[in-house]
Amino acid sequence: MSQASMNVSECAKRTVAAVRRAAGELTLRPRTGEIGRVLSSGDGIATIAGLPSARARELLRFAGGVRGIVFDLDEGEIGCVLLGDDTKVFAGDIVRCSGQVIRAPMGRGLIGRVVDPLGHPLDDGPPIVVERYDPIEREAPAILARAPVVRPLATGIKSIDATIPIGRGQRELIVGDRSTGKTSIAIDAIINQVGSGVLCFYVAIGQRAASVARFIEALRARGAMAHTVVIVAEADSPPGMQFIAPYAGCAMSEFFMEQGHDTLIVYDDLTKHAQTYREISLLLRRPPGREAYPGDIFFIHSRLLERATQYDEAHGGGSQTALPIVETQAQNISAYVPTNLISITDGQIYLSPELYQAGFLPAVDVGLSVSRVGGKTQIRAMKKLAQQMRLEYTQFIELEQFTKFGTTMDPETQVALERGRRIRELLKQAAHEPVALAEQVLLLHVGTSGLLRGVDAERVREFDAAFRAAAREGLAELLARIEAGEEVGEADAGAISDLAEKVKQRFGRSE
Ligand SMILES: Nc1ncnc2c1ncn2[C@@H]1O[C@H](COP(=O)(O)OP(=O)(O)OP(=O)(O)O)[C@@H](O)[C@H]1O
Ligand SMILES: [Mg+2]
Repeated sequence: MSQASMNVSECAKRTVAAVRRAAGELTLRPRTGEIGRVLSSGDGIATIAGLPSARARELLRFAGGVRGIVFDLDEGEIGCVLLGDDTKVFAGDIVRCSGQVIRAPMGRGLIGRVVDPLGHPLDDGPPIVVERYDPIEREAPAILARAPVVRPLATGIKSIDATIPIGRGQRELIVGDRSTGKTSIAIDAIINQVGSGVLCFYVAIGQRAASVARFIEALRARGAMAHTVVIVAEADSPPGMQFIAPYAGCAMSEFFMEQGHDTLIVYDDLTKHAQTYREISLLLRRPPGREAYPGDIFFIHSRLLERATQYDEAHGGGSQTALPIVETQAQNISAYVPTNLISITDGQIYLSPELYQAGFLPAVDVGLSVSRVGGKTQIRAMKKLAQQMRLEYTQFIELEQFTKFGTTMDPETQVALERGRRIRELLKQAAHEPVALAEQVLLLHVGTSGLLRGVDAERVREFDAAFRAAAREGLAELLARIEAGEEVGEADAGAISDLAEKVKQRFGRSE
């Protein structure tokens, strides 16, 4: 053998060794040898023959460019949920495994943008700069990596921050019938994060494009898009996209949580998510369970909401607060999906259609709402006042019910009723106009110390706005101290009362 041929064979050997090494390092190898065929397609799903090594939740690629997720693995047939247009998938088309689970793009480039669950821009902005792609589904943070919920997440909504306070890392369900102001509460909470450093993720599932556009506009108008990502899978998008939307949004928020950021995620709403999942499952001929939902409906929501947490210091101290929304039919909170979600979350904000119709907005039913962990996070100045207010208010509601039957009232009852009515007016609030926590504390102080006497109930809201404006000017130093955690002292009480009197003079009557 010549010298030259020795070198060539040595070289070839080395190349082969290098290729082998590189191949050994590859973790995700598409199995190109395997080809599947589409048996049928339609209604957002496809059934496939072949691909014996396909795995559950694996991403499949169809000949026409559409992608899908393996949902059901039967012997000889795979049930797949499509993430694209099902009219582009035909029986007989070739399908290949990808060796990957579904991933979404991550990075700061998403902030301020409106995207679909796969991170494609839906606004007119430039392409998104992606830092990396992460699987949209993953295990929830370990218990040992979690810390207790101790910091407040202010929503800016008076009735919520006072009576159902939410903490960072908490999961609080927003539940109510159709059109009771559920989305508005979530949007207000996002708007209130302007300047708080909390990054917000709003996931719209199965909504009409027009209503999503309206809420995006509200966010934009108040400067809230600067810290928000909107993930949209609207009503006419493929069921697969609607199904993955909350998981994708959650992963995008986790990317920031892991870097130590505080995040807030809204799932609007999980009723539609559950219905989409039911539709997919029925089409894939899975056995229906209660209310025709598949047996694992609880699991698909719990594994999503378990991902919300407050990380401990060793893990960066970031947090994800989740506000899932669920719609009830005829106030039936004991239906299957709402009860599931109530049991998964740390409390619920219940919105009542009766209060909505009576013009009590936001229509939060304080009696039926709870916050299981948020109480500990409430700022000190607020806690005492809020307790007193809640007590007075619930007594008033009882009293009002009772006096409806036309009993003659003694003057004392009359005074209590008047006072309760004013407190109720004080809790009313327009949509998208959050109030700072410290200002809320002043209002609670005014409401519970009788300083509203002399203001007609109909004019309390006017008083509210005028008083807060005056306080921002005259009591700026006190507001800052409350914000820093101080309680309202005796000297402060005097200053508040003086200011309230001054503002009241503008409202005519005084007693
Ligand atoms: N605090 C408020 N003050 C005045 N109007 C409000 C308030 N909150 C909500 N609304 C109005 O009530 C209507 C319903 O609100 P929203 O869309 O938030 O309810 P929803 O429960 O999310 O409805 P859907 O069931 O359609 O999702 C909207 O027109 C909204 O502007
Ligand atoms: Mg809504």
